[in-house]
Amino acid sequence: MWWILALFSSAVAAVHPAFARQDDLPNTAEADHLNHPTKLQELDVMCSRLSDDCYVIKQALKKDFQVVRFMEQQGYSKSKYHAISAINMKMDSSGNVKFNHGSITIDYIATMIAAPYMTGALEFGRPGHVLRIGLGGGSLDMFLHSQQPQLRITVVELDPTMVELAKKWFGAVDDERRRTVIGDGADFVVKAAREGTKFDVIALDACNSADEMFKCPARAFYDRETMESVKEALTDTGILVINVLSSNNTILYSTLRQYFAVCFSAQMQSQNQVTACMKNEPEGSVMKAFRKASKMLGFDSQLAYVNFVRF
Ligand SMILES: *[C@@H]1O[C@H](CO)[C@@H](O)[C@H](O)[C@H]1NC(C)=O
Repeated sequence: MWWILALFSSAVAAVHPAFARQDDLPNTAEADHLNHPTKLQELDVMCSRLSDDCYVIKQALKKDFQVVRFMEQQGYSKSKYHAISAINMKMDSSGNVKFNHGSITIDYIATMIAAPYMTGALEFGRPGHVLRIGLGGGSLDMFLHSQQPQLRITVVELDPTMVELAKKWFGAVDDERRRTVIGDGADFVVKAAREGTKFDVIALDACNSADEMFKCPARAFYDRETMESVKEALTDTGILVINVLSSNNTILYSTLRQYFAVCFSAQMQSQNQVTACMKNEPEGSVMKAFRKASKMLGFDSQLAYVNFVRF
């Protein structure tokens, strides 16, 4: 044990001066993993050139010496404060932090990652093509990139500032297995469908924070042409996985049921719901498969409470 203690004490000594105390800790369930950080450090503020939105990048040192880096939208009232994206960082003995894409801090992201394995859209060790719409800090796609190297990943993000931010502060990388496209996600899917490109997973995490009713996904994704293209761009066993954050899901659910044969939804401990839809009925018990996938991905205790219900 002595070496662990030595590592921790030197790490803390090295890191302490950099962290400043702050009172405005994020206080929603989305930021639960940040409960009671001992130190909070603001790293950067980056503002969009497309909108008035600014993003604050912070780093929290928790009591158990875990380091979490996260991003918040500036100007939100405290009651709405939440981390848009968060990743765990690894701390070495000199107190330097490195990206750790091997785990996921936000439950809805972990659930979105596990969902394709629950229906057989993805299988461990098999190649697959994943489209993510809405980058955030890139934790979902960078987890898959580091843990499932046989996957091909395309990420579409509207805001170039978000792409810069994900690369600079969250360790997102473009290479032969993962590429980032700057553009409109709905347009991208329409074009992909027209060209006959197929994806095993379309992970939709595109939000409009100004719209209470259609916050996530943004209203554009309810369009007939977009929905038809999403369906068209999925393989027969493919899955659409959506981060849902809305004051009323009735319209989204009925829209999805018009296009897909089967849909499931799971409530997170935060306000988010993860909704998954397929063109064809999956084989076997999805919840059994979800538990198994969660375990394979290292999310089993984190997602033990998650339950997908058919709608
Ligand atoms: C949700 O929206 C639907 C359709 O617009 C409406 O009929 C329903 O009353 C709404 N539910 C709530 C709880 O507001």
